[in-house]
Amino acid sequence: MNATIKKASWWFFALLAVVIGLYPAIYFWADSNFGLLQSKPETLLADPVWNVAFYTHILCGGFALLSGWIQFDKGLRDRKRKLHKRIGMAYVTAVFFSSLAGIYIGLFATGGLVSILGFVSLGVIWLCTTMMGWFTAKKHDYVAHEDWMIFSYAAAFAAVTLRIWLPILIVLHQGEFIPAYHIVAWLCWVPNILVAFWLVRRRRVASQSIRNA
Ligand code: HEM
Repeated sequence: MNATIKKASWWFFALLAVVIGLYPAIYFWADSNFGLLQSKPETLLADPVWNVAFYTHILCGGFALLSGWIQFDKGLRDRKRKLHKRIGMAYVTAVFFSSLAGIYIGLFATGGLVSILGFVSLGVIWLCTTMMGWFTAKKHDYVAHEDWMIFSYAAAFAAVTLRIWLPILIVLHQGEFIPAYHIVAWLCWVPNILVAFWLVRRRRVASQSIRNA
């Protein structure tokens, strides 16, 4: 790929991560009727456990999205290994809390079973791939570590892709929210994981051909 296109795509990817990573902040400033909260029943909004889980999820998820992309910059990683380790631990901690809270609030997702299964599966995948990324780093298996973290961040990036797909799907469903939401609960992460598979495979093939050369 042309170096300029590669650089531009990288900065576009970073910009999306930063914009959506900062988006949860609006929930802390806006009134209690903002965004998704409008679609929730009063009983759920009054539930303290759901509220703690919701705010933990969006705060830690926002942090994970904001910090994760920096870790893929190879130059920075090679020059500042300690910084990479510190940001990595903060990312893993944030994902741990955000994914568990995401799985819990997923059980109350708008749209019922189809949305619930989509979000809960995403939460489990995000938690497992991130923990695998952490364990492999601890074992100094850095090839596997990078692979798992590609999967982990592809899952985190569902927060970005959801906000790209959802308005398109709502338009395609003539303004109806629920059918669009059923689809987006899956479409926000399945293609991301497929792209992660492709990236990991491409890395493996490239390192194999270097070893064979
Ligand atoms: C990758 C795993 C993730 C899972 C499993 C997940 C799960 C969920 C669920 C279940 C909801 C509530 C949906 C509903 O009740 O209908 C939600 C909402 C939300 N999530 Fe996540 N999420 C993930 C990642 C993230 C990340 C990385 C962020 C950071 C930006 C984030 C920010 C939000 C926000 C702000 C909302 C409120 C809805 C909105 O304003 O659009 N989530 N998430």
